[in-house]
Amino acid sequence: MATYPPPEDFAKRAHVQGMEACRALYDRAKERPEEFWGELAEQELFWFEKWSHVLEWNPPFAKWFAGGKINASYNCLDRHLTTPRKNKAALIWEGEPGDQRILTYQELYRLVCRFANVLKARGFQAGDRAIIYMPMIPELPVAMLACARLGITHSVVFGGFSAEALKARIQDLSAGVVITADGGWRRGKEVKLKPAVDEALADCPSVRDVIVHRRTGSDTPMQAGRDWWWHELEQNASETCPAEPLDSEHPLFVLYTSGTTGKPKGIQHATGGYLLQITATMKWVFDLKEEDTYWCTADIGWVTGHSYIVYGPLAAGATSLMYEGAPDTPQPDRFWRIIEKYRVNIFYTSPTAIRAFIRQGDQWPNRHDMSSLRLLGSVGEPINPSAWEWYYKVIGKERCPIVDTWWQTETGSILISPMPGAVPAKPGSATLPLPGIVPDVVDLNGNPVGVDREGFLIIRRPWPCMLRTLCGDPKRYEENYWSRIPGNYLTGDAARRDADGYYWILGRVDDVMNVSGHRLSTMELESALVRHPAVAEAAVVGKPHEITGQAVCAFVTLKRGDWNHDELGEDLRKWVAHEIGGFAKPEQIRFTDSLPKTRSGKIMRRLLREIVTSNTVAGDVTTLEDLGVLTALASQQDEE
Ligand code: WTA
Repeated sequence: MATYPPPEDFAKRAHVQGMEACRALYDRAKERPEEFWGELAEQELFWFEKWSHVLEWNPPFAKWFAGGKINASYNCLDRHLTTPRKNKAALIWEGEPGDQRILTYQELYRLVCRFANVLKARGFQAGDRAIIYMPMIPELPVAMLACARLGITHSVVFGGFSAEALKARIQDLSAGVVITADGGWRRGKEVKLKPAVDEALADCPSVRDVIVHRRTGSDTPMQAGRDWWWHELEQNASETCPAEPLDSEHPLFVLYTSGTTGKPKGIQHATGGYLLQITATMKWVFDLKEEDTYWCTADIGWVTGHSYIVYGPLAAGATSLMYEGAPDTPQPDRFWRIIEKYRVNIFYTSPTAIRAFIRQGDQWPNRHDMSSLRLLGSVGEPINPSAWEWYYKVIGKERCPIVDTWWQTETGSILISPMPGAVPAKPGSATLPLPGIVPDVVDLNGNPVGVDREGFLIIRRPWPCMLRTLCGDPKRYEENYWSRIPGNYLTGDAARRDADGYYWILGRVDDVMNVSGHRLSTMELESALVRHPAVAEAAVVGKPHEITGQAVCAFVTLKRGDWNHDELGEDLRKWVAHEIGGFAKPEQIRFTDSLPKTRSGKIMRRLLREIVTSNTVAGDVTTLEDLGVLTALASQQDEE
C-alpha cells in the first residue's frame, strides 16, 4: 500500500510540523482534555465573559464553556476590524453568469450589521428562529451572520429542496421569518426559490415575515404585509449593530439531515464549542496561513458549507471563496478557471466531483495554471484510491498533500483527518483522529474488534463541536446516538483501523444513503413514494454508482389498477422531486408484485441491496416470508 509523506516544502512551513509535534498535541489533548480545550478557547476566540467550566458532561448532554458569553458574528467579523485584516477580502464571490463581488471584512461587517438591524426592526430577537432558503450568493452568509449577531437561531435549507421539504423544516422549527431570494443561477437557467416559499407557507402559521433578496430580477409576486424586499427594508438601516453577548451554549443553528425514519432530524449546534473546533481545524487540517485564498466548493445548505465556507474560515480570518453555480458551466473547466483566476491555494471538494472531473478528461485542468494550489481536501464520502491518485497527480501535480476529512453534520467539525504537514497519507484512509477525538471500532456489544477488522465507528468522549440535541426531540437524540453502545456516540458508519491506527471509513451501516455526498434517508424516500396514489409499498436502497458513489434505487409495489410502468416510473421520479427535491430523484424504479419481508413484516433491504449490487442473492434468507418473491426479484432484469 502506497503511503505519501508530506512533501518536504510543505512540511517545513506547516502549522504542525512532523509526527512528533502532532503526537505532542494528541497526547496533551488526550491526557488533559479540559485544559487543552480551555487554553485553545482563550487563544482562538473572543469572549465577552469567560466561562466557569470547560465541560459539563451529563451523558449524553454536554455543555462546553458554560457560563461563557460569546457571539459567533463578532468572532467572524468585529474582532478582525482592529487588525490588518480589516481591508482583507473576507469573501470572494463569483456568480455563475460571471459576475463577481469581493467583500472585505469591513464591508461584510457593514452588510451584516445593516441586515441585523432589518431583522431587529421587524421585531426579531435572541431566541427566535429563522429559515434561510437562498442560492449561493454573499447574502446567504450575510443572513446567517446577522442572525448569529442577534442570537436568532438559523436553519439554512439547501436551495435544491422542494416546497414540501421546506415546509416540514419551517414547521418543525416554528420559524418566525423566512429569508430567501427570487432565485439563483444554475447551468445557465434561473432556479426560482420564492414560488417554493409561497407554496410552503400556505401551511406555516408561525411565519410572520418573508424577506426576499433580488438576485435574478425575474418577476416575483409579493404578498402584501408578509413579503418584503431586502433592499427596501435595508435602505435606512444603520451600519452598526452591537453583537449580543450570548451564552456559549446558545443554539447557533439547526441543520436538518436525514435519519433512519421518514422525519428529518434537526441537528442542533451550540455557539462556543462549535466555533472553537472549526477554528482549530482550519489550522490543523487546512494549515491556513494569512495569505491563503481558500475555496470549499460545497453548498452552504449542507454542514460543510456552514463550517468550512462561513464560520470556520471567517472566524480564522481567511479569504473564503464562494461560487454560485455548476462546475461544468459554461464548460467543464469552470473550477480550474476559478482556481487560476483567483490564485486559489487551498481547494476542498467531494469525491463525486473528482470522479466527474476524471470522466471529463485531463485536458480541462491541464489547460490552466494551477500552480497556486498547495493543499487539496476531500469530504463527504469515501474517496476511492484511484480518484485520490488522480487528484494528487493531475490537480496537485504531486506537490500538494490531500486531506481526506471524515466528519458529519452531527460532529460539526472534521474529526478524522491527516494534519497535512505531519501525517503521511494512505489513499482511501481519513488517517488519524484529530486532537481530543477518541474514536474506536467496536462490535454490537461495544467491544473493540481489533486491528484490520470491520466494526461500528464510535466516539468515546464528548468534543466541543458535537451536536447538543435534536431540535425538540432530546429522546430521539439519546436513542439514536447514545443508547446502542451506552455512553458512546454511534456514528452510523462502519470502519476498520489498521496496524498504524489509520481509520478506513467503509460507509453507512444504517438506512442512510450517500448520493453525491448528500445524505438521503431510505425511510424519507419511502414515505415520499407511498404518499403517491398509485403506490402500495416502497423499499429504497442505494445502488453502487461510478460517479455519485451511490444512486437511489426504489422497489415499488402498486395498488390495483392498470398502470403503464414507463409513464408511472417517470411520474414517480417527478413526485420524489416534488416531495423532497430534484437531487433525490431515484435513478431506478423497479416494480414488483411484493417485497421480501421478515416474519414480523420488516422489509429486508439487505437482500434488495444485494440484488441491485449483483443481481444475485447469497447469505442468510431463513427469516424470509416468501422466498418466491425474492427469487422473482433476483432474476428480474432492471426495468430500464
Ligand atoms: C460520510 C458531511 C468517508 C459518512 C460532512 C458520514 C465520509 C456522512 C467522509 C456524513 C470521508 C463524510 N470518508 N465517508 N472523508 N466524510 N463521510 O452529515 O458516511 O452530510 O457519516 O456530513 O458522510 O454526511 P453529512
